[in-house]
Amino acid sequence: MSHDQNPTPLRSSPAPRGLSGRLTVPGDKSISHRALMFGALAVGTTEIEGLLEGEDVLRTAAAMRLLGATVDHLGPGRWRVAGRGIGGLTEPADVLDMGNSGTAARLICGLLAGHPLFAVMTGDASLRRRPMRRVTDPLAACGARFSFREGGRLPLAIEGARDPLPLDYTLPVASAQVKSACLLAGLCAPGITRVVEPEATRDHSENMLRHFGAKVRVEARGHGRIVELTGQPELRAAAVNVPGDPSSAGFFLVAALIVPGSRLVIGNVGLNPLRTGLFDSLREMGAKLEVGDARLEGGEAVGDLTVEFTGLRAVDVPPERAPSMIDEYPILAVAAACATGTSRFRGLAELRVKESDRLIGTAEMLRVAGARCEIEGDDLIVHGCGGPPPGGGVVATQMDHRLAMSALVLGLACKTPLSIDDGSFIATSFPNFLPLMRGALGAETMVPA
Ligand code: S3P
Repeated sequence: MSHDQNPTPLRSSPAPRGLSGRLTVPGDKSISHRALMFGALAVGTTEIEGLLEGEDVLRTAAAMRLLGATVDHLGPGRWRVAGRGIGGLTEPADVLDMGNSGTAARLICGLLAGHPLFAVMTGDASLRRRPMRRVTDPLAACGARFSFREGGRLPLAIEGARDPLPLDYTLPVASAQVKSACLLAGLCAPGITRVVEPEATRDHSENMLRHFGAKVRVEARGHGRIVELTGQPELRAAAVNVPGDPSSAGFFLVAALIVPGSRLVIGNVGLNPLRTGLFDSLREMGAKLEVGDARLEGGEAVGDLTVEFTGLRAVDVPPERAPSMIDEYPILAVAAACATGTSRFRGLAELRVKESDRLIGTAEMLRVAGARCEIEGDDLIVHGCGGPPPGGGVVATQMDHRLAMSALVLGLACKTPLSIDDGSFIATSFPNFLPLMRGALGAETMVPA
């Protein structure tokens, strides 16, 4: 599944008409990873509906098999995991290859830290550049030992702790991956594992842990939270219904907002308030964006989104909103490039350690399309074109699925086609992005370049 040798250049042309109809996007990536991992740690059989079958999540499924869980694919989105119970994972007979997935790599470090086994982990060229010390430093305090390449990069080797200690850790960065890695390690340790986050980040791990019967206490503290997990619970297998991924929905929302004549309904989208910063920012830009049939499923908020083309105005996004839309800045930048006025997105340091340096990648994408922008410290400033940007170049996507999809959406609203150097990484999170886009547009506007 390596893309390194097979780039897929694509060209996105101005949309001949608006996006219309009703669609659903694939399952939430964060929840899908966690459903497989908690399923592997539970006693009994976990049935999952709506699992994202993107490459990132398939890496997690393969890793859970290597660690001794039985993972069966029953049909589209339908999976069954027979778990080993907490502490019951077995030593993997081969290297764990996490492909492009930072979430899989970092969460699995937490999962392994409390098991007395040896494992080696690697990933693709993008993942091998990403920092791992943010998880291995706190996890070492539970007794696990890690060794890795210069700069804390993959491949890494881990010797999990035989008698793991509970962690008490204050996150230095707002990261749900680091929080979740600590909680996963805490499952194997006796006593209370405590994680303090200065900014609240997505709480899918906490929600799913409760859904599987663990005791998790959460206390608000300023913008942040204190999370306490009681260790060594009996995790009981539970059915998981994965909602549509709000991050994937974001590409269709913005496409509808910038292509005149659009009206689109996206059904069954996850609306966890710690994921919906993009929706708030788009509304502040004047977007017509409504939620219908809001409901709770398996501890997660879900609803249907209706969106219509709107002339957008600039937005100033405060830094404290970043954790709730951390993956959505490239697509918000696309909206800002088509809007009237100058937008500012503040406090984006964490974008520099995503699948690519997304702060630079997003700015480069806009420049290639002829929109003006600057990076000032950790802020991105976008000068809106007040309508269609010129388009016309080739965007370097840097092995980053979100840059690839954002650039293709931008191309729909440009005066001339916009190309990307490689669309193959879209399959990591959104395998049916292109056919779904073709269906909503009623036209083939994203084709091989
Ligand atoms: C994720 C957390 C975020 C996000 C990533 C998924 C998760 O990363 O960017 O796509 O599932 O926990 P950070 O925790 O590094 O911010």
